[in-house]
Formats: sequence, structure tokens, C-alpha cells
Amino acid sequence: MNAVPTLETHLSDDDLTAALRADALLGLTSAPKWLPPKWFYDARGSELFEQITELPEYYPTRTERALLERVVGEIARSTRAEVLVELGSGSSAKTRLLLNALTAEGALETYVPQDVSSSALRAAVEEIAAEFPAVSVHGVVSDFTGTLGNLPRGGRRMIAFLGGTIGNLVPAERAEFLAGIHEVLEPGEQLLIGAGLVIDPAVLVPAYDDAAGVTAEFNRNVLHVLNNRLDADFVPEKFDHIAMWDAENEWIEMRLAATEATTVKVRELDLTVEFAPGEQMRTEISAKFRLDGLRNELAEAGFRTERVWTDPDDRFALVLSERV
Ligand code: SAH
Ligand code: AVI
Repeated sequence: MNAVPTLETHLSDDDLTAALRADALLGLTSAPKWLPPKWFYDARGSELFEQITELPEYYPTRTERALLERVVGEIARSTRAEVLVELGSGSSAKTRLLLNALTAEGALETYVPQDVSSSALRAAVEEIAAEFPAVSVHGVVSDFTGTLGNLPRGGRRMIAFLGGTIGNLVPAERAEFLAGIHEVLEPGEQLLIGAGLVIDPAVLVPAYDDAAGVTAEFNRNVLHVLNNRLDADFVPEKFDHIAMWDAENEWIEMRLAATEATTVKVRELDLTVEFAPGEQMRTEISAKFRLDGLRNELAEAGFRTERVWTDPDDRFALVLSERV
């Protein structure tokens, strides 16, 4: 029987507000304006993301799940991880497949889900602990673009980074992120990445611009977060959702466009921000990958790619690599 699950917080409410202040001050005074995507994920944003994963247009989650179902046994056999650390774990929905397979291999002792969204993490930790009584569950609330030094050491570890969230980092952030993982892992320990692949924009774009408007609401949620945390007075309905394929960078870009000339006060920052009619602000990139490019990025960060699995339509990949 397992110990009570724990939740370790490295991001207090004050830390989050301070970080958002810095990001908003930089992003809202830049030309063009932009905001980092991690600010979508308050409790409402995390719920909206879960709704996105069920949308008919949003193929990544169900594609990755089907792929995991197919290959999870191989992953478990070749890693025999004792400790599974998952970055940006959210609801840990698909991770149950990995946990089942690793438990069946008989080696798994500890699951460490990590996320910036404390509400999502708290719920996941309770549920997983109840479902997997033989596994110790230890949640960590932190920012994976910051230090990863808070992650536990010891045991044969595998870090999982699923869902294609690696694509929400720009290339320089990805290099820094992979270097950070290299630093915390020991030689021989493993990294499992789920990544969306470059596919037909006619399939990609609707995945980020669904007919029911859930992604639009998710996009606008960043404005609610600014209103709530920094006492801003954005009127989210006055911003249109935009999702476009940037063929040069091979990423989806989500933006919010002011429907009319708008003045916004961010009282916590003592800042007034003007939006011209139609002015667009970038809120997220979602990069799609080519397998060679991903292998190269991993190699440059000191990882040797061991196995790559893709779905039958080549929309999504799972890449297992070893820290050299
Ligand atoms: N892995 C899950 C969730 C993906 S959604 C899946 O595959 O379905 C992206 C998750 O990453 C969210 O739960 C969000 O809160 C988290 N996240 C985004 N930016 C983060 C950051 N900088 N640090 C930690 N978690 C982050
Ligand atoms: C979490 N991440 C991988 C999602 C994605 O597809 O880039 C976030 C998302 N943005 C819009 N829809 C979903």
C-alpha cells in the first residue's frame, strides 16, 4: 500500500503574479505584442484544454493516445523505468497507459507529474494515486522553462514530455529546455517526447480553429488571466481568435486581434496599452516537426535517439532518447 500522494509547490501565487507581471510588461510593450502560452493555464484554461482534446478537429491527443496504446509495451520493456517524471502533465490522461505498462513490467515505483497549473495537477495526483496504489505519486508545481533542479534524483528515471507541448517552445527555448533536461538526467536515463509532425495545413489549421469555438475561448482565456491576476480591463469578446500556419517556420501561430481600437489599463503594472483596430498579438506557437530535425535538436542537446514511433498517417511521433 502506497503513501499519501504529495504536492510540492515551487510557484506560489505571488511568484506567479510576479512572473506574469514581467511577461506582460515585456510582451504588451513590444511591437508586435505577444504573450507566452503558459498563461493560458489557470483552472479555467486547463479545463478548456481538456475540452479541446475531445474536439473532432483536434487530432493530436487521440492520435498520440492510439500510438501510445500500440507501443507502450515496447517503451516499458526497453526503459524499465523506476521513476517516471512527466513535464506539463496536465490531467495525466494518456499517462495512465504508460503507468499501466511500466507497472506491468514490475519496475515502476514513483510517478512525478509536474505542471504550472496547480488545479490540474492536484486533481491528477489524487486520481492517479487512487488508481495506482502501488505507485508513489509526488506532484511538483513549477515552470519547466525555469529550473528543473527541483525534480527528484535517484532511481532509474524516464522523463516524459507528451502532447506536443515541446512545440509550444520557440527553437531557442527548446534548446535551453533540452539542455536543462540533459543537466538533470544521468547518462543512460531516458527522455520520451510526443511531438506533432508537419502535415497538411488543411488538417492542421482547423485543429486550432474549431467550429465550436472552444480554442477561441482558450485563446481569449489569457486575457481573463491578465484581468484576474494583474487587475487589467481587457474585454475578451473584443478580440478575435486567429490560427494560421506559418509555412516558413513550420508552426501554427495563434493570435488575438483587436476588433476595434481599444485602450486597456493594466492597473497592477500602472500600464496603459493601446490596440489599433485589427492589431494582432501572438499568444502561442505550436511548432510541428520533421523527424530529422527533432533528432538533430536532441543530438545537439546530448541525447541519442533510440526509437521513433509514428501513427499510420504520420501526424504524430513518440521519440525515445537516451541521455548520453
Ligand atoms: N501533457 C498533457 C497536457 C498538455 S497541455 C497532454 O498531453 O494532454 C500543456 C500542459 O503544460 C498544461 O497542463 C499546462 O499547464 C502545462 N504547461 C504549459 N507551460 C508550462 C510551463 N512553462 N511549465 C510547466 N507546465 C506548463
Ligand atoms: C499543449 N499544446 C501542445 C497544445 C497545442 O496543440 O499546441 C495547446 C493548444 N493550443 C491550441 N489548442 C491546443
